[in-house]
Amino acid sequence: MPETYNPQLGREHSYPYEHREEERDWHWGMIININRCINCNTCSFACKSTWTSGEGEEYMWWMNVETEPYGGYPMGWDMRLLDDLGKDETIFEAAEEGEAAKGYVAQKEEWEYPALGDDQVHGEYPTGDVVESDLEEDEYHDMWQFYLPRLCNHCKNPACLAACPRKAIYKREEDGIVLLDQERCRGYRKCVKSCPYHKPMYNPETGVSEKPVGCFPRIEEGNVPRCVSSCIGKTRLHGNINRGPDAGHPNGNTDAAAGRSPVNYLAKSDEKIALPLYPQFGTRPQVFYMPPYHVPPEFLTQMFTPNTDEKRNDWPGSTFEESIKIVQDRVRNPSHHVLGILQLFGATTRLIETYTVKEHRVKGWDRKGNKVVDMPFEEEMEVREGEMWTNQ
Ligand code: SF4
Ligand code: F3S
Repeated sequence: MPETYNPQLGREHSYPYEHREEERDWHWGMIININRCINCNTCSFACKSTWTSGEGEEYMWWMNVETEPYGGYPMGWDMRLLDDLGKDETIFEAAEEGEAAKGYVAQKEEWEYPALGDDQVHGEYPTGDVVESDLEEDEYHDMWQFYLPRLCNHCKNPACLAACPRKAIYKREEDGIVLLDQERCRGYRKCVKSCPYHKPMYNPETGVSEKPVGCFPRIEEGNVPRCVSSCIGKTRLHGNINRGPDAGHPNGNTDAAAGRSPVNYLAKSDEKIALPLYPQFGTRPQVFYMPPYHVPPEFLTQMFTPNTDEKRNDWPGSTFEESIKIVQDRVRNPSHHVLGILQLFGATTRLIETYTVKEHRVKGWDRKGNKVVDMPFEEEMEVREGEMWTNQ
């Protein structure tokens, strides 16, 4: 089986598919700021009404929002598989003879409760007591929960693609979106079993499977996916995750800024601030999350880091837990540059290819080099002379 270097794990591992992800100029990517999500599910319904409202698609939620730590759709989708993996083992290394990846087939009843555990908190509520906060800076809540929006990650090592014996799943050359060709599909459901994020789903009416499409018709027209444009919490930013600091002007248009995309900055710059979900599966997911800052780091470590004993120089702390604390602090107290990028979230339905943050203004340009955002993000504060008027 070919070996591939996985930068999210910092090592090589087997992956049964030759590919050239790093050379693509353009690759679908998304950042989600978990701290802004209010579980309104506008994203889920926007996706469902666009893509999965037909016969046999009733239980298909390509976009869903879960309450952590108790929610999950299908039930326990993450823990069932994680429990089966050995220490430092990807789903490709753990694959059984004749299979491309280790997987899990969720049963009917596990798909029946898309809102299981909604708003349930972790921790004891002090009965008969008033709730008082004695949190010091750098402490975390005793009782906590958070919302985790989940969607297809358009992985760089897609397990669904590797697993299909019909080669019915492919990555688009132009943007890395992972699509399923329903004409080729024969309903073998290896994709359903192998995706560790449980996003390909079988349609019993048509006898073939379906998977999320990354809103490709909107991307082709230079717009962001519907889950991004409809999000009332402005939790998301979508764009070209492969556009690094050395990239030129979009479309050669020198009116626009050259260089990296804002999603690339948040996920790939030295100021690591957005993290992939369960990188230990090994699929290189391309949705990156800004972690919640009120949640104990030990929980987030197993969810957003490779969670191995190995020391990693590309993480900010000497351990993953310490690194998570540093990332949480960066999210809670963003740098001036990140504060500027945060204003781009939900600012336009156009896809922002490049940007600048200069002084107190942030600007963004689309793939053609047209300016689509230009706004201030910090207001000057004026302190007036004289005595403060107080209410007697
Ligand atoms: Fe395939 Fe699942 Fe990755 Fe989406 S999240 S590309 S369905 S392996
Ligand atoms: Fe392949 Fe999945 Fe269809 S494994 S044949 S795409 S059901």
